[in-house]
Amino acid sequence: MELRKINPEDAKSQWEYTTALPADENGLTNPYCGVTYEEYLENVLPVLMSYEHPVNMPDWFVPETYYYLWDGDLLVGEFRIRHYLTEALRNGAGHIGYSIRRDVRGKGYGTAGLRLTIEMARQIIPEDEIYLRVNKDNIASQKVMLNNGAYVAGEDESHLFMRVAK
Ligand SMILES: CC(C)(COP(=O)(O)OP(=O)(O)OC[C@H]1O[C@@H](n2cnc3c(N)ncnc32)[C@H](O)[C@@H]1OP(=O)(O)O)[C@@H](O)C(=O)NCCC(=O)NCCS
Repeated sequence: MELRKINPEDAKSQWEYTTALPADENGLTNPYCGVTYEEYLENVLPVLMSYEHPVNMPDWFVPETYYYLWDGDLLVGEFRIRHYLTEALRNGAGHIGYSIRRDVRGKGYGTAGLRLTIEMARQIIPEDEIYLRVNKDNIASQKVMLNNGAYVAGEDESHLFMRVAK
């Protein structure tokens, strides 16, 4: 299994994943649900790649790198790392967002992908802990986090705020 940064060579598989990912699933948002391959190549891929070194973005925008989890030739999931916390991220979505292809969920990919993403995040983020947020009713994702050594640091009405030591 391998975590590969978003790139033009893998465009077809990345597009298939992105266009099929729901617009909002458990708080993970995707404005590119249903996008055509042509639109993806022209407007989406360059934008997502640019997020690592943002240009002409508002002050609040934190650099974010997209990675894909591969099992051999199959792209099985997406993992995004935001490079540092702002007040909004600290009290919100945190450092990492992820999802796994619907047809291969429940096979350990979420747990394995987050493990690799945490290793990557340790080299990127300046904070002492990796911040994650999960809906209270999203048991699968909570398990993915707990499997990776996360602890519950707080909660609000609908979310748990989890952290992993760096
Ligand atoms: C959350 C998600 C990433 C989990 O990925 P996955 O590949 O299915 O995760 P794993 O196979 O590693 O499973 C982790 C645990 O959750 C359990 N699990 C999987 N699906 C479950 C479900 N629908 N209900 C309850 N538990 C579930 C697994 O049995 C496993 O339990 P274990 O650790 O006791 O063995 C995936 O369901 C997903 O993409 N969901 C939509 C997007 C999302 O919710 N992202 C996270 C936002 S915080």
